[in-house]
This record gives sequence, structure tokens and C-alpha cells, in this order.
Amino acid sequence: MLSHKKGLNSKSDPLKRSDGQPTDRKVAEQALARVKAFARRCFDKASGSHGWDHTLRVFRLCEMLGPAENADMNVLRAAAYLHDIGRPVQDACDGAVCHAAKGAQMAEPMVYSLPLSNEQQQNIIHCIRSHRFRNHHKPATIEARVLFDADKLDAIGAVGVARAFLFAGELGARLHNPDLDAEKTRPYSVDDTGYREFKVKLCKIKARMLTTAGRKWARARHAFMEDFFNRFLAEYEGKR
Ligand SMILES: [Fe+2]
Ligand SMILES: [Fe+2]
Repeated sequence: MLSHKKGLNSKSDPLKRSDGQPTDRKVAEQALARVKAFARRCFDKASGSHGWDHTLRVFRLCEMLGPAENADMNVLRAAAYLHDIGRPVQDACDGAVCHAAKGAQMAEPMVYSLPLSNEQQQNIIHCIRSHRFRNHHKPATIEARVLFDADKLDAIGAVGVARAFLFAGELGARLHNPDLDAEKTRPYSVDDTGYREFKVKLCKIKARMLTTAGRKWARARHAFMEDFFNRFLAEYEGKR
């Protein structure tokens, strides 16, 4: 059972070897560099909207949100790099495989080789598996909740708008299809317009945030996005 109580959440929590002894900073940095290089290689054939750049943005958001939530940064940084390594597999089969479950499985050999306690290693795997959180695998530790929020934040705001249209472009979709009810169109199809992404998914993200810091950032990003799409519709209809 994963715990986010004593020790695991502390910002000053030292890296630990499997024998429980602290690991020095240099070893810790080398381990994280190894994680980053492994994760980067998984994205060689990834698409732009869900590519390595997204992982780097999520990593930076975790660096901002993690300390505010008193997260164990040794766990959170590794989980941020690894969270989407299963994504190219999911994209290759048009969503038939869940990239969170697949990514957790792919990450296991790397994670269990890291100079961390077993609890920290399990927490990283849990963060990866639960970062998508739909029906199963609710984020149960503070690190998992921070990663979830960082991942969702990258889907909204100015970056979220840009990613929505990039994704639609990858599918050969249009900016907007006013003749179709966005709620009734299919994802991963040419009907998956930038506007549909907002209407069906992005506008609901703000309500799903799990941390105090995440909720604060999401409010600002959501407000920007709403302004953008109101203006977008007005311009689309030739009213402005
Ligand atoms: Fe993901
Ligand atoms: Fe992600």
C-alpha cells in the first residue's frame, strides 16, 4: 500500500539506496539523467501534440507545483519524465491501448534499478499508472496528484489551445465544424477539430484538479482559454 504520509513527501527527503542508506547528490543526478535519456528514446517516433516537448513542460510544471505541495521531488521528477512513455504505443493503435498502464509496465525495469527506497520506486510506478485517471487507478499519493495536475495544466491555457489545433492538424481535421454537434462527433477522427477538443474535453479539466496549487493555476489557464474560444467563434462567424 502506497503512503504519502511521513517522510515520503518531504522536500528534503534524501535519496535512499535499497539498503536504506542515503545516496549522494551526484549519484542522484546521474540516476535522473539516466531516467531522462531512457524516456527521451521512447519518443523517437512520437507525434507533435503528445511528443517529448510535452514531457519537458510537465517536468517544469512539476518543479513549480511540487515544492508548493511538499512532494518528494526525487519521486516526482522521475515520474514526470516517465509518465507518457507509453503514449507512442497508444497513438500507434488509435487509442486501443491505455498509455498509462503500458507506460507503467515499460518503466518497471528502469525504476527498480534506481537508487531509491522500494516505497519511492513503487510510488513512481503508481504516478505513471494513475496520471491519466479516468475510472481506475486514482492518484493516491501527493506526488501522483501533482503529476496529474501538471499533466492536465499542459492541456489547457495558451499551450492547451495550441496543442488542440496541432492534434486536429495531425488528424487532418478542420479548425471548427459548425455543422456538427461537437458532443456527438468521434475522437481520433477528422471531426476532432480544435474547437471540439475544447468543447468536449478541455473546458472540463479545471474541475478535475487535485491539488491546491494545481487548482489555482488551472483557474487562470481556463479563463484565458475561454476568452480565446469566445473570440475564435466570433471571428469564425465573421462578427469581429
Ligand atoms: Fe499521459
Ligand atoms: Fe502527459
